[in-house]
Amino acid sequence: MSIRRLAEKQPASFAFSEANRAWAEDRIAKYPEGRQASAVISLLWRAQEQEGWVTEPAIEVIAAMLSMPKIRVLEVATFYTMFHLEPVGRIAHLQVCGTTPCWLRGANDLKEVCRKRINHDQFHLSADGAFSWEEVECLGACVNAPLIQINADTYEDLTPARLEAIIDDLAAGRAVKPGPQIDRAFSAPAGRPTTLLDVGAEPEPEPEPKGGDGVPAPQTPINAARPEAAVQTPADPTGAVSQAIEKAEDGLSTKEKREEKVAETAGRDGTNDAGGKA
Ligand code: FES
Repeated sequence: MSIRRLAEKQPASFAFSEANRAWAEDRIAKYPEGRQASAVISLLWRAQEQEGWVTEPAIEVIAAMLSMPKIRVLEVATFYTMFHLEPVGRIAHLQVCGTTPCWLRGANDLKEVCRKRINHDQFHLSADGAFSWEEVECLGACVNAPLIQINADTYEDLTPARLEAIIDDLAAGRAVKPGPQIDRAFSAPAGRPTTLLDVGAEPEPEPEPKGGDGVPAPQTPINAARPEAAVQTPADPTGAVSQAIEKAEDGLSTKEKREEKVAETAGRDGTNDAGGKA
């Protein structure tokens, strides 16, 4: 985790644009009297959207608007890595997750791409000022590791080659699809689902009763009536599941046999249920 400090070079002042000031006042008015400080994250975010990063003068203006000590606003701005405390790339600022799941899945290789394509050091702009990068902690999408965040979107399941292609597309002004960069829907298993395969299948109609005159129709085993469900049941390549089921069934029949044996012995000895002699 990097140390988060305000940039050494700061602008002389900050002011919300007219539209942003009206928006901010409207946002503050949504909170009950005495709770205006709750709007701090919204206002910091709007200031960042306006300036590209959170400046010290912006922190001072927001503190005054919310009647908060400056240090309280500073604490919020320095805690959340979504707030940029230095000027960032004109086109994009890449936040590379370096926490364990992403690290195990190749985050270091993504950082190498950033060093090569943007700047050797994080928080520094590329030569043309278009890009910047930093390492951050878990971005909350570990199942699709490794990933980066750009503005409000994450780009997941990355390889170094895919990250280079994304940087090329952004530099050329081409749209890049956020989310998983492989054959995966959201955080579902890569490729295809492996469980709950028959969810949404049409229910089978009730079988016609075959017995007549009040004789109940024979029960049909679930999968026998739905051969496609049997085919879609996940395979049991090692046979471990089948063995466990057989063992459980054996256990049941052994228990039943034991109970039968006890009853048999009790009948022979004339022992009643209370454990005494009849
Ligand atoms: S560890 Fe990278 S998103 Fe959680």
